[in-house]
Amino acid sequence: MLFKQQALLRQKLFVLGSLAIGSLLYLVARVGSLDRLQPLCPIDGRFGAHSQDEIPLRALQFKRGLLHEFRKGNATKEQIRLHNLVQQLPKAIIIGVRKGGTRALLEMLNLHPAVVKASQEIHFFDNDENYAKGIEWYRKKMPFSYPHQITIEKSPAYFITEEVPERIYKMNSSIKLLIIVREPTTRAISDYTQVLEGKERKNKTYYKFEKLAIDPNTCEVNTKYKAVRTSIYTKHLERWLKYFPIEQFHIVDGDRLITEPLPELQLVEKFLNLPPRISQYNLYFNATRGFYCLRFNIVFNKCLAGSKGRIHPEVDTSVITKLHKFFHPFNQKFYQITGRTFNWP
Ligand code: A3P
Repeated sequence: MLFKQQALLRQKLFVLGSLAIGSLLYLVARVGSLDRLQPLCPIDGRFGAHSQDEIPLRALQFKRGLLHEFRKGNATKEQIRLHNLVQQLPKAIIIGVRKGGTRALLEMLNLHPAVVKASQEIHFFDNDENYAKGIEWYRKKMPFSYPHQITIEKSPAYFITEEVPERIYKMNSSIKLLIIVREPTTRAISDYTQVLEGKERKNKTYYKFEKLAIDPNTCEVNTKYKAVRTSIYTKHLERWLKYFPIEQFHIVDGDRLITEPLPELQLVEKFLNLPPRISQYNLYFNATRGFYCLRFNIVFNKCLAGSKGRIHPEVDTSVITKLHKFFHPFNQKFYQITGRTFNWP
């Protein structure tokens, strides 16, 4: 009998203890999100006026989970009306560069309470079939957001595709354009590594980087190789400059975003006229991944997928030197045009 009573008491204590721990965790999580989400205005004037019944931005943060559902297209009409949600065309686009750190940049900017990301690469402006579907199709691909938030999408193919600058200009001639770059040779090897992985998965044979990057007939850099061409940043940028003034671009240092993301993100906040809201709290170094990961609050963290941060194959040093020499004059021109200098060889 006594034994039974003791067991019952233990059970009750266990339930009470679990409840107490659960409540404590909930409270800490709420405080975590509050800490991150100080009121955001003066943002209002910058991205359009608030309507009377609009949900304040702070409230949105407690709805991150809910918004996630909306993004997945699970929102009912009633929910959309109730929360005054809209699908907005992007006010800023990460146009490239492939393997520059475009995903990391988008995810990190999404830490900002006034930013909403389009999770998928939409490929509207670079894909003729998609483009033919029209701007409404594009808008409908955007996530739901509050009217005072800005939507950002990234499709790195935009940077190198001939028709894209004119098409984006036609949509919005004052749009803000973000380009994240890495040291061009490293970027080319990263590009190669991604393609190589795909080929390996399909059991296809593939050449070594050296063989693709160097023309065997001339022993010079093979400018027909796409991974090399994409890294000639200045050539692509010059095409964009026929449509947009340089002030509409912001160059992000992708190498620095890996080692020291916060200052790079703060520069982007400034460029987008956003109040500084991303802090060191939102970024923590994960030694296992070897990269910074994202902290939304005390309970919600995430690192980028394993496909980001691949191990590169070793490349012959003479090929690396050749590539460095090849890219050098293009890099100089890139610094000159953009006003941002990098320590590239
Ligand atoms: P590697 O795989 O060569 O290391 P993109 O998103 O444009 O495809 O760029 C991928 C690159 O983003 C990766 O290239 C990786 O180095 C870089 N990167 C930058 N910050 C990162 C982060 N926090 N986590 C993972 N990868 C990151």
